[in-house]
Parts: sequence; structure tokens; C-alpha cells
Amino acid sequence: MSATGLTKSFGELEVLRGVDLVVQPGSVFALLGSNGAGKTTLVKILATLLRADSGTAAVNGHDVTTAPHRVREAISLTGQFAAVDEVLTGRENLMLVARLRHLPHPAAIADEMLAGFSLTEAGNRRAGSYSGGMRRRLDIAMSLIGNPPIIFLDEPTTGLDPQARVDVWQTVRGLADSGATVLLTTQYLDEAEQLADRIAILHRGTIVQHGTLAELKALLPPAKVEYVEKQPSLEDVFLALVGEQAGGGSAAAGSASGGSATAAPPTGPAAPGPATPSGAERKDES
Ligand SMILES: Nc1ncnc2c1ncn2[C@@H]1O[C@H](COP(=O)(O)OP(=O)(O)OP(=O)(O)O)[C@@H](O)[C@H]1O
Ligand SMILES: [Mg+2]
Repeated sequence: MSATGLTKSFGELEVLRGVDLVVQPGSVFALLGSNGAGKTTLVKILATLLRADSGTAAVNGHDVTTAPHRVREAISLTGQFAAVDEVLTGRENLMLVARLRHLPHPAAIADEMLAGFSLTEAGNRRAGSYSGGMRRRLDIAMSLIGNPPIIFLDEPTTGLDPQARVDVWQTVRGLADSGATVLLTTQYLDEAEQLADRIAILHRGTIVQHGTLAELKALLPPAKVEYVEKQPSLEDVFLALVGEQAGGGSAAAGSASGGSATAAPPTGPAAPGPATPSGAERKDES
């Protein structure tokens, strides 16, 4: 997938001012940017939902302007806002997409996707009754039916709880490992760190920087070594208490009982160095 010199304005507002990017097959590419940076606009252009004012883009080798049908055959798009049919059940939503993609055995496909996204129990309930996270999971499951080679995920984990985010990350990683190309947008920097082979930062209408995580980190001065008390983050605590281990294991009780460094008690031994009220505070001051 590639784009060269893409521009797009809405009236006076210049949203994209010459975007260039290349996404290698089988990789996860994360597009970072603040609210209103133009991430969704760029995804919509690549997914043939919007036309650029100028510039060119090709997806799966097909030009988005001259061969949009070929592009659509190769992609799936999970938009920023869930696009499930609220009147249908989760299972029916999945079967609908399988039918639209002309796949045999839509019921079996639906059941497989429900199981893969922890929605089996809710499968026969109307999607309108789902929580935001369940709806998001159903939306992602629907977009993956038929194994499209190129997958667009616009803020796939916004609104998901930490465990569901980790589940989505594993799914995305698995897709890329099995050969799919994934372009995702996110505002969660840790999401890009965890998932992406390459990261691009969209700011003021252009890609201001792109590269691997290591390349981006190398742009800043080398890390300073500081001794600080290791505090578990709230996410560590949450996952230790309610999380499932990868592979469907039981709750991370070992972590909750203090067996893991991330769940160490907050009052650990003082960090070496001059005495201060708290190691964490000293880090902020230095
Ligand atoms: N159809 C439209 N008509 C007019 N302005 C639009 C339209 N679509 C997007 N915009 C404007 O273009 C800018 C970029 O919007 P876009 O949705 O691409 O941002 P984003 O990076 O996806 O933001 P967010 O993180 O909030 O989803 C915003 O200022 C938005 O208001
Ligand atoms: Mg957006």
C-alpha cells in the first residue's frame, strides 16, 4: 500500500497537505495523530470512501481512483464508529457479512467468529443490547470475515477495557503474522509501541516522522539512567485482578498475590541515592 502527495481539503480547511506513506505487505502500520489530524480522512481515501483532491494512492497494487472495485475486494474497514446492525443479533450480523462476501457456511463462520471474540453467550442477543466494548468486538469480527489481505482499523480499541484491548492486539498481531497487512490509527501511544512494525505521525496535514519504534526513539537524546521505585500502573493492577492470561488461562492470581514485579507492593525498598520523600517524586523533579 502506498500514497504519494495526497491532499484533501474540506472547504477552507486543509486537512491533508501532501501525505506520503508506504506500508509493506504483512506488516502492522500505525498512524498516530491528535484529534482532527486527518487520520480518518486518510483511511477513508485509502479505503475508497473519499476522493483525494490530488496525489495518488494504491492499495494491494490497485489505484484507489481508477480501480476502486479492485481495492474494495482486497480490504476490510473497521471504521471509527461501530457499524453493526442493532436490530439483528450478533450472530445474524456476522452471517449477513458472510453472505455479502458470498462465503459458504455462513452459520459456521458466525459461530467461529463469536467464539474467537468471546461473544458466544451474547450471540443470540440483539446487537443493540451490547455494551460498547462488545459492539466493538463484533464490529471487528465482522470486518475480518473472509480473511481480507488488507485491513484498516480506525481506532480499534477506543472504548475497550484493558483486557479487551490486549485481546484485540493479539488478534491484530495474529493477522499480520498470517500475512495480512494492517493499517491502524490510534491515539494510544502504547498501542503503537506494542503492535506496530512501523509508526507514522500525522501532524498539520503531513507525515512529520515515520519509522520503526527504535528509529523514532533514536530521534531523541539517549536515555538517562535514573533509579526510581517501580510502581505498578493502574493497568497492571486491573489486569492482575480481572485479566485472563494469554491463551485463555485463568485469572492472573499469581500477579495479584505479589508474585510479579509489576504487581509489587507500592511501598518497596527506597531507591538508592539522596533521601527524598519518594523515588517517584524525585524523578519528576530531576
Ligand atoms: N466530511 C467533512 N466535512 C467537513 N470537515 C470534515 C469532514 N471530515 C473531516 N472533517 C474535518 O477534517 C479534520 C480531520 O478530521 P478526521 O476525522 O480525519 O480527524 P482524525 O485524525 O480522524 O481525528 P480523531 O482522532 O478525532 O478521530 C477535522 O477538522 C474534521 O472536522
Ligand atoms: Mg478519526
